[in-house]
Amino acid sequence: MSKEILLLSGPNLDELGTRSPEIYGSTTLAEHVERFTARAEKDGFSVRHVQSNFEGELIEAVHAARGTSVAIVINAGALTHSSWALADALAMFNGVKVEVHLSNPAAREPFRHVSTLAGVVNGSIAGFGATSYELALDAVRRLLELA
Ligand code: DQA
Repeated sequence: MSKEILLLSGPNLDELGTRSPEIYGSTTLAEHVERFTARAEKDGFSVRHVQSNFEGELIEAVHAARGTSVAIVINAGALTHSSWALADALAMFNGVKVEVHLSNPAAREPFRHVSTLAGVVNGSIAGFGATSYELALDAVRRLLELA
C-alpha cells in the first residue's frame, strides 16, 4: 500500500493563477497539486489534497490524517501568521510535517514574518515559487528515510 501525503492548502490559494501573479506566479493550485502528485507517485506516495478557506476544515483534515498519512505538507496561506489552533492540531500529528510557501514571507510585510506553525513542523521551505512544492516533497522523502 502506498504511503499517503496530506497536502493542505489554506485560504485564498484556490485563487492562485490570477491572485497577485507578480508575487505568486501564474500557476494555478490545480497545476501545483498535479505536479506535486505526479512526482510523489513516482516516489511511491499517494497524495490527498485538501484546500479550504475555513480554518476549522483544515484543522479537521489534520485530525483525520492521524493514522492515515505519513506526512503533511502545508501551505496555510495567511493562517500561517495567525492560527494557533492549526498549530495545536499539527502538534498532535506525529508524522513528518513541512511548511511550504511560494513567496518568502520574511521578505514581505512585518505581519508575515511570524509563523505560528514554524515551531511544530520539521521545517519550512519558502520563496522558491512553484519549486517550493518540489523541495517540500524532497524534504518529506529525506525525513522519512531518516525516521
Ligand atoms: C503564502 C504566504 C502567505 O503570507 C500568504 O498569506 C499566502 C500565501 C505563500 O505561499 O507565499 O496566502 O503562504
